[in-house]
Amino acid sequence: MKIKKAVIPAAGLGTRVLPASKAMPKEMLPIVDKPAIQYIVEEAVRSGIEDILIITSRGKSIMEDHFDRAPELEARLLAAGKQRQYDEVVSIAGLANIQYLRQKETRGLGHAVWCAKSFVGDEPFAVLYGDDVIIGEDPACGQLCRAYEEFGLGVVGIKEVAPELICKYSSLKTEPLHDNLFRVTDMVEKPAPGKELSNYSILGRCVLPPKIFDILEHTAPGAGGEIQLTDAMLQLALSDGMVGVDYTGVRYDMGSKLGVLQAIVEVGLTHPEVGADFRDYLKKMSCTL
Ligand code: UTP
Repeated sequence: MKIKKAVIPAAGLGTRVLPASKAMPKEMLPIVDKPAIQYIVEEAVRSGIEDILIITSRGKSIMEDHFDRAPELEARLLAAGKQRQYDEVVSIAGLANIQYLRQKETRGLGHAVWCAKSFVGDEPFAVLYGDDVIIGEDPACGQLCRAYEEFGLGVVGIKEVAPELICKYSSLKTEPLHDNLFRVTDMVEKPAPGKELSNYSILGRCVLPPKIFDILEHTAPGAGGEIQLTDAMLQLALSDGMVGVDYTGVRYDMGSKLGVLQAIVEVGLTHPEVGADFRDYLKKMSCTL
């Protein structure tokens, strides 16, 4: 079954990137000249997604403005003969069919996904975490959608993280299937020392069957007092099994200060407009380090 719907949870408080995220959503932090959430919407579209629901919260409505038309700006750009910028600004509003829903209380990623129940209906759907930008030729979301089509099971995007960092993520028990695909048989969110299952963690993307909503309904708050999507996915893994895709592409954690810096440096180096100058600057700069 083709995956046509995606949910982008973007209602979190973004405490790790304060004070930048005090009045501005972290999902709007730019990588050079494009906000993180636009990279994510573009990835979803390249993956064949047609309908997108962005989960927002108070103070985050500039995300809606970003994907809307901007008549005054457009008129000014046209009048100034800035056709390229005009085309770019207009095209953002036509990227996809995007809807928005407010999560009224920040009750966790699991709760944010649960809010998408009536948008999703009775079909499998993709979840793209609003602060995880993944850049690569083959869109990560599409890689997961293909795995869903192959196995008919829930799919998680997985990557190995440094052993000393696994306590901040989820930890998975995996068995190889073929190529970069794994069966996921167990998982734990933010494992205490000694409770790690492996260094594989769920990072940024998943494709879930609608059954997840019944599970989320009965999922009690977990780590951090929040309703954890991982806890619901564990139930799914235990009852039906899940598949992990060690996706290709580089992931940038735009919810962390270091991740923001890494994204800007790496994308900046390949940027068509400023890449060459930025490379010269970095070379000079690195001599002083
Ligand atoms: P995070 O756990 O990284 O977001 O959730 P956070 O809670 O904003 O992070 P910190 O720890 O305070 O810095 C991953 C994604 O899920 C969304 C976030 O906006 C982020 O894109 N999220 C999280 C929600 O939509 N609702 C929530 O209640 C929590």
